[in-house]
Amino acid sequence: MKRMLSGIKPTGQLHLGNYIGALSKFVEYQDEYDVIAFIANLHCITVYQEPNELRKNLKDCVALYLACGLDPDKSTIFLQTDIMEHAQLGFIMCCNTYLGELNRMTQFKDKQAKNEKNLTGGIYTYPTLMSADILMYDPDFVPVGEDQKQHVELCRDVAIRFNNKYGDTFKIPSPLIPKVGARIMSLQDPNKKMSKSDETNKGCIYLLEDLASARKKIMSAKTDSLACVKYDPINQAGIANLMQIMSSLSNKTFSEIEKEFENKGYGDFKKAVADVVCDTLANIQSKYNEIIKSNQVEIALEKGRIKAEKLAKEKLNQVQLKIGIEIK
Ligand code: TRP
Repeated sequence: MKRMLSGIKPTGQLHLGNYIGALSKFVEYQDEYDVIAFIANLHCITVYQEPNELRKNLKDCVALYLACGLDPDKSTIFLQTDIMEHAQLGFIMCCNTYLGELNRMTQFKDKQAKNEKNLTGGIYTYPTLMSADILMYDPDFVPVGEDQKQHVELCRDVAIRFNNKYGDTFKIPSPLIPKVGARIMSLQDPNKKMSKSDETNKGCIYLLEDLASARKKIMSAKTDSLACVKYDPINQAGIANLMQIMSSLSNKTFSEIEKEFENKGYGDFKKAVADVVCDTLANIQSKYNEIIKSNQVEIALEKGRIKAEKLAKEKLNQVQLKIGIEIK
């Protein structure tokens, strides 16, 4: 079975875009791949997080992944900080990455260009820790969004260089950009990605959102005056986005949706979209409520920690022997 690894950065509440674009895909991947999914809580703190909020987001994030169907018996789910080897291999990777390479990373450059204050060393060396996260477990694939692709490419470069210098040590991973339709857009501005940093907060539906509020957001989603439910992302971006949401959550194709709403208005269509969204949320929320009351999060993380630790210890040991920092 091929291995797939992903890090999840829980810096805010998970939303419908995360669910359709990432969580639900992950759950599908579990049957096809050996999935390793960890919570990148070290990467989180490269930008200041209010501690109480971070603590809550961490737990919610794991609980929501479990609620969406990530199965701790099939997959390996753990906290990055539970495996100390990440930070250590991270430093070793940092010593095998050139300043020139880090200077080229657009995530860092964008933050610099925006003149963000108090940029930390952590945000600068972020990709070296990410390389360690990946190379530790020899995955075949790393599913990432467009914004993280450059980091995975850097990881490959560093791994290839390391293997050439010290002998075969790391498997060279491939980025896996999700299949079509993974991008859900803001309900208010369908040219922007659905995001928690949405100013009005009307464009984004959270997985733990009250159903009445979610319904309201769908009903007031931005559309157009063409009065025709047709998949045309260029001229009818808002409708296309709602169709995408409906199709992802109900497994109906675009043409099936077009046919179903052929002679109906946007009101009827939106109501149907709101129904599937609310069904999905209700299902996730009832599982989440059960999980958060129990100790399932702790149990899942402990199972994951045990599995991951074994692999991490082996790999770090191998690396340290190769580079000569062990007395043996
Ligand atoms: N940087 C990733 C993000 O912002 C999170 C992450 C950390 C990650 N380590 C990783 C993703 C390793 C894939 C593999 O989403």
